[in-house]
Amino acid sequence: LENAVGRKPALGYNTWNAFGISIDEDIVKATAQRMIDLGLRDAGYVYLNVDDAWSEPVRVDGKLIGNRATFPSGIKALADYVHSKGLKFGIYSDAGSHTCAGFPGSRGYEAVDAQTWADWGVDYLKYDNCFAPASDWIVDRYVAMRDALNETDRPVLYSLCEWGVADPWLWAPEVGNSWRTTEDIEPTWSSILKILDYSTGLARFAGPGHFGDLDMLEVGNGELTLGEQRAHFALWALFKSPLLIGADLRTIHPDSLAILKAREVIAINQDELGVAGDLIWQQGASRVYAAPLAGGGRAVVLLNLHTPGGQYVVSNISVSWEELGLPAGTPAAVRDLYATADLGTFTDSFTAEVTAHDVRVVRIVPLGGLKHDSWRPW
Ligand code: GLA
Repeated sequence: LENAVGRKPALGYNTWNAFGISIDEDIVKATAQRMIDLGLRDAGYVYLNVDDAWSEPVRVDGKLIGNRATFPSGIKALADYVHSKGLKFGIYSDAGSHTCAGFPGSRGYEAVDAQTWADWGVDYLKYDNCFAPASDWIVDRYVAMRDALNETDRPVLYSLCEWGVADPWLWAPEVGNSWRTTEDIEPTWSSILKILDYSTGLARFAGPGHFGDLDMLEVGNGELTLGEQRAHFALWALFKSPLLIGADLRTIHPDSLAILKAREVIAINQDELGVAGDLIWQQGASRVYAAPLAGGGRAVVLLNLHTPGGQYVVSNISVSWEELGLPAGTPAAVRDLYATADLGTFTDSFTAEVTAHDVRVVRIVPLGGLKHDSWRPW
């Protein structure tokens, strides 16, 4: 969507994965402070988005207002607080009669709600898809809110949460700044792999201002091992998904925090070219995902799907220059982006040891650049 925002995938925080419907203004304020204290704001995570369950259970005078028990200061005051911390403020609603948790939805109230949010200073809207009549065409409901937001003259990043139904990649690029590719994420390896596989092949539909959303991060949640968290984060970054932190920042483990702050992995996500990565090679339990970067470089994620503790704890996984659209024999500098370490200059291919349920993430930059480069991973 061409609306002056969302030219790069959004970086920020969303309350849902950590707190569900048990949110209040103190949690949001504490999260804002933690984003600063933990260095996340400085790492680029600027959106602080409140998910479902922020409103009164019914409209007041036809308008949405903050829940009087859990957000007693009101949403405008909260948005002001978040802005005073140098962050942007996001909110959530639904294209049906109710949100997924049963709070009032915006269908039929698009103009009044968009104006309410503009008056509050909202910078980001996540727009869900529950409780819509089957007779509606989904695109109409999402277009109605796009146009209402546009009418307010406040630039609002418009994030579609249609769970991948109705092939959103075909219509959402002109409707929103991002669209969900699948159903909801869970903090399990099987959920991460499922989303990854559903999202494979969709890179071609994304670009600056319109990105596929693989759902909010589970880094720091559930039983995911550190290797699994590294893989989840790097692949979401490579696919140019919005990166919205979903862990409780008051208690997050330092190792998970370090993954979220991996500066050079975030840089792949925020690369100027804005081309999403995709699967370029697989055999057995080895996979290679890649994306082109501005200036002729390539970002590459080598993924080992073997079961940890099994016979193949470590695999050698290779990527050739041919697979990356680089002329054979081209000297290129290879850098490990989680380790932030230069690995040397290679001329035809690169091979790394990758642990089971883990990744190696590298950037491969041809020395002297490329004369012609329009390589894409599809
Ligand atoms: C849906 C969305 C989730 C979350 C919940 C809130 O399931 O996909 O991301 O917003 O609703 O109820």
